[in-house]
Amino acid sequence: MCGIVGYVGEREALPIILKALKRIEYRGYDSCGVLVQNQGEMMGHKEVGAIDCLVSSLPESGYEGKIAIGHSRWATHGAPTVTNAHPHLDCNGEIAVVHNGIIENYQSIKEGVLCDCIFKSETDTEVIPHLINICLKRKLSPTELHSGELNALQVKEAVKEALSYLRGSYAILVAVKGFDGLVAARKESPLILGVGDREFFLASDVPAVLDQTNRIIFLEEEDLVVVEKDSIYIENGGSEVKREESLIEWTIEDAEKGGYEHFMLKEIHEEPKAIRDTLMGYLTEGRINLGLDFIVDAESILLVACGTSYYAALCGKYIIENLAKIPVRIEVASEFNYSDFVLDGSKVVAMAITQSGETADTLTALKKAKGYGCKTVAITNVLGSSATRLADETIYSRAGPEIGVAATKSFITQLIIFYLLGLFLSKMPASVFAEHINELKRMPQIAQRVLDEVNIQKHARYLSKYEHTFFVGRGVNLPISLEGALKLKEISYIHAEGYAAGELKHGPFALLTEDTPVIAILTRDDIYEKTLGNVKEIKARGSPVIAIAEEGDEEVEKYVDDVIRVPRTSALFSPIPNTVALHLLAYWTAKERGCEIDKPRNLAKSVTVE
Ligand code: AGP
Repeated sequence: MCGIVGYVGEREALPIILKALKRIEYRGYDSCGVLVQNQGEMMGHKEVGAIDCLVSSLPESGYEGKIAIGHSRWATHGAPTVTNAHPHLDCNGEIAVVHNGIIENYQSIKEGVLCDCIFKSETDTEVIPHLINICLKRKLSPTELHSGELNALQVKEAVKEALSYLRGSYAILVAVKGFDGLVAARKESPLILGVGDREFFLASDVPAVLDQTNRIIFLEEEDLVVVEKDSIYIENGGSEVKREESLIEWTIEDAEKGGYEHFMLKEIHEEPKAIRDTLMGYLTEGRINLGLDFIVDAESILLVACGTSYYAALCGKYIIENLAKIPVRIEVASEFNYSDFVLDGSKVVAMAITQSGETADTLTALKKAKGYGCKTVAITNVLGSSATRLADETIYSRAGPEIGVAATKSFITQLIIFYLLGLFLSKMPASVFAEHINELKRMPQIAQRVLDEVNIQKHARYLSKYEHTFFVGRGVNLPISLEGALKLKEISYIHAEGYAAGELKHGPFALLTEDTPVIAILTRDDIYEKTLGNVKEIKARGSPVIAIAEEGDEEVEKYVDDVIRVPRTSALFSPIPNTVALHLLAYWTAKERGCEIDKPRNLAKSVTVE
């Protein structure tokens, strides 16, 4: 997904920009570029591929300067080519723009107000510098135009007018020849401002600048910002606004690999801590405080999400309905957004589950739910993200920064939030409530035991030789089998399908052979015998079966080829150990196959386009 960075200050800008781009590589990208203002000259350089390629192809001199912008691009309009890479410039090469988002009406702008312009790229972004150029010309007298110097007001007003032409989403940084600063703006795309000592950093996300400053301003929807080395001006809706700085406590170390070969493995090993941190945030002396008292009046809950977060939501449905007996409806955000949904918003609390808080489909769903009049809640892991700004209330899952594209610790903390929510909404007797709380408090330790005791690598070695697999489970573990399959396919490129164990016989049986191993979650719950029956049916079709079963369950061994043993918990909480085991299985299988685990092909960490 595109990343943008900018610097204005007293130091050499290029090394800072390149380092910031490296820090946000995890977002996923296919090309990149930088532009430095060197004594009034606009010096741009772009490359297809990695930031390292950009660095090695940069000329040794000519890129000195104290103002610069940079971009990592994930292609949406036009192929990943040098020409389509950002920054994009106006026809005179004097106005440079980097952009994250999508300009929906760029074609009609090209054919309308910009019909005389010659465009170099196929991108939607390129209209922006051209628009700023014509707006600037409209605002300046011929003397001002030829003076070679521009002031903040002139540039800001031109950018503002240019933005009024745009429909869609954007976070942009604008550098203009003759102006010693940068102008930035955001609409439906994240943008932060890092504050230093006589210097400012602009970026699409916090890790980009965290080695430079932890003083962060989260810019609000439709903020327009002008930064010069010793001043900052923020405007919204035509008036100046003040935005507070947040002190970010994540250290750079938090965001680095901490001795593990991959971020994903580090993040799986952080699952016990992430669970503990999330519990600590909301559980004091056996009482749950989510700060959301209005949800007790909800007649039902609507959960919207994408990908892994959707599977967490599906698990959440089982958990909340079991504990709180409140009906929960869940929707894939991208489908919900364009469906003829029937909903009385006054009775429904809508919750958007999103690790990044920036997933475009989920944000649109949140807006749609608001349109129905629902009270809205964002369940997210990213402080200051767009979801937190859109929703009425926020519950943070306290997983800490997650860099690996595959969501792991963020998923498990989403589950913890659902246990807390279900218990918070429940009307069960105090003694039963206390039993559940005690079980919940055991989860960090249970997750740790999976990490310490389960020898998953032998199972991973076995699985890595196959090209097709099924993951099956039932009840609260159906979503966990879907999550196990998604994780495996995402990083090992093995075709994996998650299925309700009872559903295989309705079609997928045709695919079962000795070359399609099945991973079966066989928790000792109320329907254990039925799931075991499904496993026997699978075995009878010749597929090898690896069960995920609790310690002490001797029976299962009679029916399967191998067993991954996890610690025993009450059935409702079994998704926690099962998830840790499946995350490890995906990781070690991908490692066995030599895959690029943290940045799987074709994927991005946060998907900010619909
Ligand atoms: C998870 O491993 C995936 N990378 C993906 O499915 C992800 O969960 C999805 O894109 C939603 O992201 P979000 O939680 O940031 O909204």
